[in-house]
Amino acid sequence: MKKYAVIGNPIEHSLSPILHNYWIDKNKIEASYEKKLISKDDLVKVINDVKEEKINGLNVTVPFKKDVIPFLDELSLEATKTQSVNTIYSKNNKIIGHNTDIKGFELNIKQIKFDVDGKNIFILGAGGVVPSIIFALNKMGASSIIVSNRTKNKAENLKNLFNNITVVNWGEVPNFDMVINATSLGLKTDDKIGIDFSNIEKNKLFYDVIYNPKNTNFLKIGKKLGHNTENGKLMFVYQALEAFEIWHNIKPQVNNEVLEFLDK
Ligand code: ATR
Repeated sequence: MKKYAVIGNPIEHSLSPILHNYWIDKNKIEASYEKKLISKDDLVKVINDVKEEKINGLNVTVPFKKDVIPFLDELSLEATKTQSVNTIYSKNNKIIGHNTDIKGFELNIKQIKFDVDGKNIFILGAGGVVPSIIFALNKMGASSIIVSNRTKNKAENLKNLFNNITVVNWGEVPNFDMVINATSLGLKTDDKIGIDFSNIEKNKLFYDVIYNPKNTNFLKIGKKLGHNTENGKLMFVYQALEAFEIWHNIKPQVNNEVLEFLDK
């Protein structure tokens, strides 16, 4: 029986075990997937468990996506460029770190048929997931990427990873075709982002990385102002899909049954 897990802190709210175990059952794989609440000091031991094949694969979530890097033997190009690892596996006796958040975001955007090529993208936030989103946007041919974060120097620091981004002050709203909420504002239903989008022409795309709650105030405002909206649920599903493919060499199905199952 192969063993998989997601590590993080906090971890209680992770839906990864539900999704992976659903696909494991559907594909009749002899495996289990659990969540592990760990502290930074536990990283050495957990990675060692992968080396010793006590664990066959890991997902990594907040706040360890960068912290885990020194313990790995190799990083994929995507993990190197974003300094962010969310999927770990062993290949030829080496422990490899990869980033499937990029593909998760990319597949979600393609699925809703938004064409990023030549578009201006505005990102709110500069936390853990933002490098993955910028990497994906560059890959899809965005013409400009503007980042705004409450703590401005965290946005400025992203220029060390991506030299093509522009940073504006928190509260400033440049013209955009797509705006992405990558802050944690919205996790609580009464959270308000407090940014005025009323000067933006209709029919842009408001994307929220948050998917629980489904409809954040940010998305509600977007809808009210006449924009299209999308939450991060499919990004979550597709990042899991790429990890599943890497570990089991099987492409699992994304259909209404899976999506509804996650809502339970
Ligand atoms: P981390 O920053 O540790 O990677 P995260 O959850 O990935 O954590 O990121 C949280 C993001 O939400 C950050 O961009 C944060 O802004 P700061 O860098 O200024 O902290 C943003 N955020 C959280 N609370 C916020 C608030 N009340 N107003 C504006 N931005 C907020």
